[in-house]
Amino acid sequence: MTERWTPSSWRQKPAKHLPTDYSDMAALERVENTLRSMPPLVFAGEARRLKSLLGEVADGKAFLLQGGDCAESFKEFHADNIRDTFRLLLQMAVVLTFAGGKPVVKVGRIAGQFAKPRSEPTETIDGVTLPSYRGDIINGMAFEAAERAPDPERLLKAYGQSSSTLNLLRAFAGGGYADLYNIHRWTLGFVADSPQGARYRELSSKISEALDFMAAVGVTPDSHPDLRRVEVFTSHEALLLGFEEAMTRVDSTSGDWYDTSAHMLWIGERTRQPDGAHIEFMKGVKNPIGMKVGPMLEGDELLRLIDILNPKNEPGRLTLYGRFGADKIADRLPRLMAATKRAGRAVVWATDPMHGNTLKAANGYKTRPFDRILSEVKTFVEVAQAEGVHPGGVHLEMTGQNVTECLGGARALSEGDLADRYHTHCDPRLNADQALELAFLVAEKLKSTREAERQAAAS
Ligand code: PEP
Ligand code: CO
Repeated sequence: MTERWTPSSWRQKPAKHLPTDYSDMAALERVENTLRSMPPLVFAGEARRLKSLLGEVADGKAFLLQGGDCAESFKEFHADNIRDTFRLLLQMAVVLTFAGGKPVVKVGRIAGQFAKPRSEPTETIDGVTLPSYRGDIINGMAFEAAERAPDPERLLKAYGQSSSTLNLLRAFAGGGYADLYNIHRWTLGFVADSPQGARYRELSSKISEALDFMAAVGVTPDSHPDLRRVEVFTSHEALLLGFEEAMTRVDSTSGDWYDTSAHMLWIGERTRQPDGAHIEFMKGVKNPIGMKVGPMLEGDELLRLIDILNPKNEPGRLTLYGRFGADKIADRLPRLMAATKRAGRAVVWATDPMHGNTLKAANGYKTRPFDRILSEVKTFVEVAQAEGVHPGGVHLEMTGQNVTECLGGARALSEGDLADRYHTHCDPRLNADQALELAFLVAEKLKSTREAERQAAAS
């Protein structure tokens, strides 16, 4: 017999990576009740719109670009940071659209990406052991007992920050900043004088020429207001289920449940147990959802999870992000793609080339080599082509800031450079330069796919 799903039915299931050490559980409950009465951050109709766009991706007609901080933080919260990440998404989308000839669906890891699963529950420094940092929505990063204690008030602060971030994103997207006629102005200060900056200027000149041509034949922003705005969606890992539950509401139009904390939510590699709390919660909300797929997963378990999360096989409902590591993807991905294809499951296959490529530098910094990230993306596209599956998108940890967290790239960042501007609150992110370089390289790969498709269609 199947038990009835409710926004709180996850509470009956075993849950991993949820904090259980709040000193005042009644205070947590009060905060969750306060959140229940707060306005939704997104509308169900917007989540349905994203689902239909992702349906296009599943169908091979569009490409997903998803990216942002590994973990947003209260400390790095600033309008400039939001603008810079937004601008980077736009620049990358332009590069990918131009090369791939397909619309790019833009989804930020933003406006809610606060909770982190951690490999170890505690951290020991100089003989002192404290709970691990779990993201600003749970506890603080500083290595002090008071900071590391989970604090319910943090949920309200995260809600507030998500709301302001989303407000600014909506203004950027619709208020003129994203006007394609501004394309030259999107160049970031420190990218402007890099090789990527020069390539981007060349591309934006071509686009401007195309816009002039279109204007001459009557296609102007007045006749096509879409030239002046973009659609950007928000996403985060649905890890802290008490928060997600409190943000889950019935949509009056459809009568369905939507998690209104973001347009899209995903399930992490560490919390996707078929009988666990996170899968239970996610199966009942109607948002488009994602799931990380790592090297330990076998085809039969993947199909079981897909059947739980997307029983009606709706295109756009479920996106899978392969995150294997450059050294494992060629061995692991083909059989998983073959399994979903053989079983006729309408999923988006995307790549997260970040989480399988993390290592510790000799000087202790957690980092990721750019060439491994790139190699995983390339192998992803090649495997997809060989399996006859659409390489649907990329999911990246990146920032518009000039950080020094990942090694390599055109500026050949070395281990010695990491200490300069290592600001991440969790995993190392691509900086704007590296992210744009990656977009150009992915664009080249997609272009060759597009040519292959054309040739196949012509023969
Ligand atoms: C993440 O996306 O930040 C993350 C923790 O990924 P994964 O679940 O794939 O390890
Ligand atoms: Co991460």
